[in-house]
Amino acid sequence: MVTGAGGALGTDLVARLTAPDAPPDDSVLAVTRAELDVTDAAAVRAAVHGWAAETAGAGRPVLVNAAAYTAVDRAETDPEAGAAAWAANAEAPGLLAAACAEVGATMVHVSTDYVLGPLPDGARRPLEPDDPTAPAGVYARSKLAGEQAVRAALPDAHHVVRTAWVYGATGANFVRTMARLSRERDTLDVVDDQHGSPTWSADLAVGLVALARSSAPAGTRHAAGGGATTWCGLARAVFEELGADPARVRPCDTASFPRPAPRPAWSVLSDASWRAAGLAPLPPWREALHTAVARHPELLLG
Ligand SMILES: NC(=O)c1ccc[n+]([C@@H]2O[C@H](COP(=O)([O-])OP(=O)(O)OC[C@H]3O[C@@H](n4cnc5c(N)ncnc54)[C@H](OP(=O)(O)O)[C@@H]3O)[C@@H](O)[C@H]2O)c1
Repeated sequence: MVTGAGGALGTDLVARLTAPDAPPDDSVLAVTRAELDVTDAAAVRAAVHGWAAETAGAGRPVLVNAAAYTAVDRAETDPEAGAAAWAANAEAPGLLAAACAEVGATMVHVSTDYVLGPLPDGARRPLEPDDPTAPAGVYARSKLAGEQAVRAALPDAHHVVRTAWVYGATGANFVRTMARLSRERDTLDVVDDQHGSPTWSADLAVGLVALARSSAPAGTRHAAGGGATTWCGLARAVFEELGADPARVRPCDTASFPRPAPRPAWSVLSDASWRAAGLAPLPPWREALHTAVARHPELLLG
């Protein structure tokens, strides 16, 4: 069962689960927000119980939660949006996990680099799942609370997967925005002091489905595109893909581009926990971007 199936990641999860090479016995129930509001406790319980009853005896039930409130800045500035973020990101995962516990399902829950804090002494190395958390901002705090609720309800049947800097073929994202701005402006100033691991949602979907089908023990793991760059580096790569001059993208610092929600300066995620579970690491981010725009040229239309 996939919740949030209409989002960027949800769309790719469903595509992966229903691809021609999917095991023929797999059955997939995908629900968009219109079909299941994950903040509605009664609806969540009914949907999960209904799904479990329909698929009883058909194998191991796994629910992948790709639903989330992702308008990070709006959650920070608009109290109603903040409340919606809390309901979808902090409380709903607990509702889903409790329902999974009732029917004996495993839950794969997607979380974010935003829950992590800076390393002690300003160290800079790829972040591991047991590195300190220090969520700054409403969205980040809501996502950490969601992780905690899932672990508490399903101590032996959860997979919490933190990812970062996701872009997909569906919806607004940084890659699309940079492509649009490349046509609208001669030069662009883009933040060069935040480091992270850009992640193509289709690659993440492949990884999450592999995890769901694996016998990996319960745990919290990181999965993001391989390697690291800055937002400026990612913007320049988008320009390269467009055949535009990457030098038109000029580096600036976070202080010159203030946003309502704080962003981590260091979001590079280690794939050690992913590999340790016997899972294939996601492809390197630059290669993934090239593949993504080749498969979805509309990404470059902005
Ligand atoms: N995007 C990133 O850079 C990034 C980075 C790290 C982690 N993540 C995590 O990755 C996961 C997938 O994110 P994404 O990039 O695919 O985001 P997305 O495109 O915004 O997808 C989220 C989906 O959840 C739906 N949703 C929101 N509230 C809901 C509710 N109450 N009930 C049911 N569905 C609801 C949204 O529907 P509407 O569009 O109709 O609201 C949307 O279809 C999330 O857990 C996110 O926190 C994302």
